[in-house]
Amino acid sequence: MKNLTNKIALVTGGNSGIGYATAKEFLELGATTIITGRRKQAVEDAAGEIGAIPLIADQSKLADIEQLVKEVQEQFGKLDILFINAGITGEATLISDAKEDNFDSVMDINLKGAYFTLSKFIPVLNDGASVIFLSSNVASMNKPQSSVYQASKAALNTIAKTAALELADRKIRVNTVSPGPTRTEVLNKSYDAEMVDGIWDNLAQILPLKKVGKPEDVAKMVTYLASDAASFITGSDFVIDGGMKIN
Ligand SMILES: NC(=O)c1ccc[n+]([C@@H]2O[C@H](COP(=O)([O-])OP(=O)(O)OC[C@H]3O[C@@H](n4cnc5c(N)ncnc54)[C@H](OP(=O)(O)O)[C@@H]3O)[C@@H](O)[C@H]2O)c1
Repeated sequence: MKNLTNKIALVTGGNSGIGYATAKEFLELGATTIITGRRKQAVEDAAGEIGAIPLIADQSKLADIEQLVKEVQEQFGKLDILFINAGITGEATLISDAKEDNFDSVMDINLKGAYFTLSKFIPVLNDGASVIFLSSNVASMNKPQSSVYQASKAALNTIAKTAALELADRKIRVNTVSPGPTRTEVLNKSYDAEMVDGIWDNLAQILPLKKVGKPEDVAKMVTYLASDAASFITGSDFVIDGGMKIN
């Protein structure tokens, strides 16, 4: 069923992984879909593959976010679906070994960038719009060597709930989706290629369902929250992690 027809959707970080899979699903459900990213060629290639509209923006930079809002406003008027997905894991380090540049890059993209993406897009959202933040199940877990990433996502969860209250009078819904290990490009950006297969295999073994997720598993939840079928859901967090959090 094409239940997103006539909707305009924007996905930040849409050139790979969960953002790409969700943009593809938005398009299949009939939404006009914009994907953003910081690497022009990668964003244009990805958009070309699925029929999305590519716009270049580094979500960690306020000037880029403001320019993106301007371009969306000029080309499309208003947005119905805002999927704030762009994020990085950064380096795995103990708090005792923390480095300022890692702290800054994770927080600049995952927290500051996500926060200001919402903030600057608020005037461009249609009443009744749906905003979805891509958080993580680790936002409510405490694993060593992931303090900065966990903190960035935990902060997003609380911001989403406050935003849900601030925007409720315009019937704008704000929710978070919190995946567990989901096989995307995310680890390839922080670890050597030969380590990556082993990490995913180990992760699968610690999950009760004994498998890691696929980007499409997450995309299905995001597209549901974006649809009018979810019109009574706001301020909620949806964990998709093969049972990792309850184990
Ligand atoms: N995969 C998992 O296991 C998992 C679990 C929980 C939560 N998450 C979250 O899911 C989200 C998507 O990650 P993914 O797993 O799909 O990884 P991914 O394949 O690396 O996708 C992340 C996307 O975000 C983009 N991005 C990163 N920094 C950006 C910036 N400053 N400006 C614009 N775009 C930027 C990336 O662009 P480039 O290609 O240029 O890097 C890429 O398109 C992230 O927020 C991540 O924290 C992932």
